[in-house]
This record gives sequence, structure tokens and C-alpha cells, in this order.
Amino acid sequence: MLPCINWLQPLLALISSTLLTQSQNCPPSCLCPDPHTVDCTGLGLTTVPDSIPLNVRRLLLSNNGILWIPSDFLVLYSDLVYLDMRNNSLSQLEPGTLSTSSRLVFLDLGSNNLTEIPSGTFGESKSLIKLRLGSNPYLSLVGSDAFMGLTSLRELDMEKNGLTVLDVQALEPLSSLRVLRLEGNPWFCSCHFASLFVWLTENQNKLSTGLRGIECSLPDGGGRIPLSLLSEDSFRECRGILTLTDYLIVIFSGICVSVTAIVASFFLASTVHCFQRLSKGGKGDEEEGKD
Ligand SMILES: *[C@@H]1O[C@H](CO)[C@@H](O)[C@H](O)[C@H]1NC(C)=O
Ligand SMILES: *[C@@H]1O[C@H](CO)[C@@H](O)[C@H](O)[C@H]1NC(C)=O
Repeated sequence: MLPCINWLQPLLALISSTLLTQSQNCPPSCLCPDPHTVDCTGLGLTTVPDSIPLNVRRLLLSNNGILWIPSDFLVLYSDLVYLDMRNNSLSQLEPGTLSTSSRLVFLDLGSNNLTEIPSGTFGESKSLIKLRLGSNPYLSLVGSDAFMGLTSLRELDMEKNGLTVLDVQALEPLSSLRVLRLEGNPWFCSCHFASLFVWLTENQNKLSTGLRGIECSLPDGGGRIPLSLLSEDSFRECRGILTLTDYLIVIFSGICVSVTAIVASFFLASTVHCFQRLSKGGKGDEEEGKD
């Protein structure tokens, strides 16, 4: 009797686990090799499939034409650890979509059509270790607080994007960063690049290609040169000019605002005055005035 039970137990376990897996209904045409993995790679999808099991941990959606991520996606799939959306047609990330992903460790949004990573995009993604944003050729804007909260992030890929400049403040919160890919962007070494250059020089051990692999074009219209040929001295004259320019802009815009305010109130006062006179003068006068 006893040996028989011993033999039955694994069999029952196998049957029940098979039944469980089947009852989880894998999305059509996708593969579900284990209870926590859903693989819908290369199926020509344009939207995220809606019958994904809620307890999915690894979701592979690369090589499709998916246009957007629903804003409640990571609220729904809160166990998600690994999300691969490489080579899709994402053009923007709706605010808040990725800010609830507290378990997400790996996120690949490379080879899409993203144009901007707004501030606060990743909110509380404290577990995120690898973030791939490379090969988004129109990605030219990264908010100064875009990577806020990514305190575990070790690898950030932003190669082959359309970046000409990057606010160095965006990189400051990444206290665990080990690898940064920035090569293949149309970097522009104007004065706006100066503070990023200082940061890159101090953190060049994190650059996958070193300073040598990152090229920028110079304001004088010359060709592209590797950052390793520049030094902080190259940006020296920026400091004075930049602060003076900023200073002048502040003063000038202050004057502009005041002048506009004075002109506007003068105009308003005379309009009111005019109307008062017109209404005293009667309607006939008003119509003649219009002619
Ligand atoms: C990207 O996905 C398309 C299908 O949408 C596929 O034909 C192409 O080979 C993929 N590219 C890469 C580099 O995997
Ligand atoms: C990618 O975005 C650019 C600019 O936003 C647009 O002109 C282009 O048509 C988009 N390409 C695809 C494949 O969606």
C-alpha cells in the first residue's frame, strides 16, 4: 500500500501541474514553455495580447509591430520581472505606464520609434537592473528626471538614438550604474554639452566604448571627433559666456515682461475709456466709427 502511494504522488503532481498550465490559457499562437513565461515573439502583433495569464513573470513580445503599452499594463501584470519589447513600433510611453513596475528587473524597449523619455517615466522601478533604450533613431529628448528612482540600475543602453545633448541631472540618480552605452548618437559639443562632458570624463570606466567610441560634432561645423580628443579646457570659454548669456536672457525677459504688462494695461485702459465715451455718444456714432 505504502509504496503504491509513494509512486502515485509524483504522478498526481505531474497531472495537476499539466492541468494547471493548460487552464492558464496561453494567448493564441504564443508559446508558454513554463507557467511563468509567455513568448509571443515575431507574430506580427500590433497590440499587446489581452489573454496573457496575470501571474506572468517573463513576457517576450519582441519583433512585433506593437504600437503602444496600455497605461494599466504593469498594474495588471504586477509579477512581471522580465519584459522584452524590442523591435516594435512604440512611439511614446504614456505617463505612469512604467512607474508602477516594482518587480521589473529587465526592460528592453530598444529598436522602437520612441521620441522622448519624459521625467518620472520609471517612477518606483527600484528593482530595474537592465534598461535598453537603444536604436530609437528619433529619441532626442530625455527629461532631467527621466531615470529618477532607478537606484538598482546597473546597465543603461541609449546607443544609436537621436540625442544631441543629455541633461547630466538625468544620470545623477543612477547610483548603481556600471555600464552606459551612448555611442552612435549625433552629439553636439556646444556649451550645453559641457557638464555632460565633465560627467563622462569622471565616469568613463562605465562607458562601454570609452570616451573614444563617442563622437560629437563641433559648433564650428567641422567633422565629428571622438570625445577622447577633447578636454575640459575645450569647454573652458563656455563657463563665462554661458553664465553671462543666461544673465542677459533673465534681465532681457524681465524687461520684456514689464514692458508688455505696461503696454497691455495702457491699451486696456484706453479701450475701456473709448467704450465709455462711445456708449455716452450713442449707438449711431458707434456704427459710423466702424465704417
Ligand atoms: C524586427 O521585427 C521584424 C518583424 O516585425 C522582423 O522582420 C525583423 O527581422 C526584426 N529585426 C531584427 C533585427 O530582429
Ligand atoms: C517614427 O517616428 C517618426 C517621427 O516621429 C515618423 O516620421 C516615422 O514615420 C515613424 N516611423 C514608424 C515606422 O512608425
